[in-house]
Amino acid sequence: MPVSRDAQGQLLLGTLPLRQLVDDPRWATPFYAYDLEGIVASATTLDNAFGRAPHLVCLAVKANTAGPILEALSRLGLGADVVSGAELSVALRAGIPPERLVYSGVAKRDAEIDMAIGLGDRGILALQIESLEEISRVAARALAAGRTARVSVRINPSVKRELLSTHDHIATGHDEAKFGVPRDDVKEAVRRVREASALTLVGFNFHIGSQLTEVGGYRESAALLCQIAQDAIAGGCTSLEFLNTGGGFGIDYGSGCAASPADFAGVVISEFDRAKLSHLKMVVEPGRALVGAHGVVVARTVQTKVAGHCQWIMIDAGMNDLIRPALYQARHRIVSIDDPKGPAASWVVVGPVCESSDDFGAHELPANAPRAVAILDAGAYGFTMASQYNGRALPDELFISKGEVVSVLRGRTSAEWAASRFC
Ligand SMILES: Cc1ncc(COP(=O)(O)O)c(C=O)c1O
Repeated sequence: MPVSRDAQGQLLLGTLPLRQLVDDPRWATPFYAYDLEGIVASATTLDNAFGRAPHLVCLAVKANTAGPILEALSRLGLGADVVSGAELSVALRAGIPPERLVYSGVAKRDAEIDMAIGLGDRGILALQIESLEEISRVAARALAAGRTARVSVRINPSVKRELLSTHDHIATGHDEAKFGVPRDDVKEAVRRVREASALTLVGFNFHIGSQLTEVGGYRESAALLCQIAQDAIAGGCTSLEFLNTGGGFGIDYGSGCAASPADFAGVVISEFDRAKLSHLKMVVEPGRALVGAHGVVVARTVQTKVAGHCQWIMIDAGMNDLIRPALYQARHRIVSIDDPKGPAASWVVVGPVCESSDDFGAHELPANAPRAVAILDAGAYGFTMASQYNGRALPDELFISKGEVVSVLRGRTSAEWAASRFC
């Protein structure tokens, strides 16, 4: 349980009462706080779900780029899925070696391709190619560099939208999405990669969407991926090393989540077994399932407002700090950091940003408005999507281990923002 209450009703992250952080003058609200042990536990549980099968769990770095988190996961032996040269640099700096890195993205720039190909003796584990057009670009870069590029072909499995069980903005595996090679073009992609002397086809991959709460579309896609691998092998391809079934494993934001990360691992194992492909490495690239539940945004109440039948709590965190509610209509639970004793009331929690969508929804909170709240399950796609819109600060990030703050990433102040707007 990433967040719980102690006997006095105080909100704990891991074993640390969040009240202590709010009362500590070193930390200005809003800030992010992460429970490192919780993150390590989630990663270990997923890793263990693959048992003795050859596998690699890669953190989708876009979910959380914080060095202390990447370093902790690197020490566990995890890899990373990156989508930019900058994310690649961060993963390397955290100690993740090139052979545990995959690189996705529909429009990788030449310099980024060069960087991935040029690392170590043989580049990263795989550049995950997303279109027929990208094949010739990567081949040309590899030739120019005198290297062989290890590539995986990302399949777009054209899963029916209703099987994706997620919000349209984060569904990527349907046939109108810009991601991946359409299933009808996969044979041609395999032919082109195999014909290119500077490319080695080491894998196939997919990522059908994020916050999947059921395994239906994932199983269908895994079966298709296995079929494609079998066809390639039957066609004489001997270089395949892995199949990557992406991420997207949902978490419980408060309204339940039928499938656990281990259920998704179970699907992978059974589909590999059925296709007699268990000699290939199983790669997955989840983000949210590893970090989402173990991060919170802590914010102070600035003031309340009552007008007619509406009542708002206005906090000092806004959509610039956590954009998911505004962007995806996502709902995050919001709770008092102190004992929520006494009568409750329905409050609409909003931030200070000048946008109507700066609204975290209605929440049951003490009628006597709490002095500070925690926005739960903010560890994924929280800070990484934060901005300085309205000239606001970027929040600090506090990393908690064994009940203490063990490291801090300082955000960027509003004063630094103001200075940055002039030449
Ligand atoms: C290619 C790719 N892989 C993995 C992920 C991780 O998804 P999640 O955080 O839902 O596991 C994403 C998220 O958008 C993605 O685009």
